[in-house]
Amino acid sequence: MLSQELTQALEAQIGHEFSAHNHYLAIAVYFESRSLDGWAAFFFAQAEEERAHAMKIVRFLLDNDVAPRIPEARAAAPDFESALEAVRSALEAERSVTAQFERMMEIALKAQDFRAVPLIEWFLNEQIEEESSMQKLVDLVESGLNLFQAQSFLPARGGEEAGA
Ligand SMILES: [Fe+2]
Ligand SMILES: [Fe+2]
Repeated sequence: MLSQELTQALEAQIGHEFSAHNHYLAIAVYFESRSLDGWAAFFFAQAEEERAHAMKIVRFLLDNDVAPRIPEARAAAPDFESALEAVRSALEAERSVTAQFERMMEIALKAQDFRAVPLIEWFLNEQIEEESSMQKLVDLVESGLNLFQAQSFLPARGGEEAGA
């Protein structure tokens, strides 16, 4: 049985993942409303991935006899000052999610919730990828390349490479 502390942290994470979904949707909307459809497609796909993350945790809790409560997700608006601000906000958000999973690993080990370790490890690996691709986007925008031309240099997405 999972400890109460880890169960609560995982439930809270469901909300964080749905908030990330909303945040990425807002970024996609920001780009598509400027006809930057390649950038938008990247972030629409990223939003779907965040939803899948939330569902992965819901599934894990159900499989462990927990009927999780689904927290409220943060609203998001496409009112970024610039493309740079949008992609920087994505990088910052990914870094805080990484910190959340690092904290969960700490809780899992302390509470001897060993069955949760592979799940949290999966997310930590995923975070390495996500931070790296958001960093690439920040670098791409900072290169000063025209954003329409820059669309041919968008990083490949992990899920696509894996055929997922
Ligand atoms: Fe995520
Ligand atoms: Fe993410």
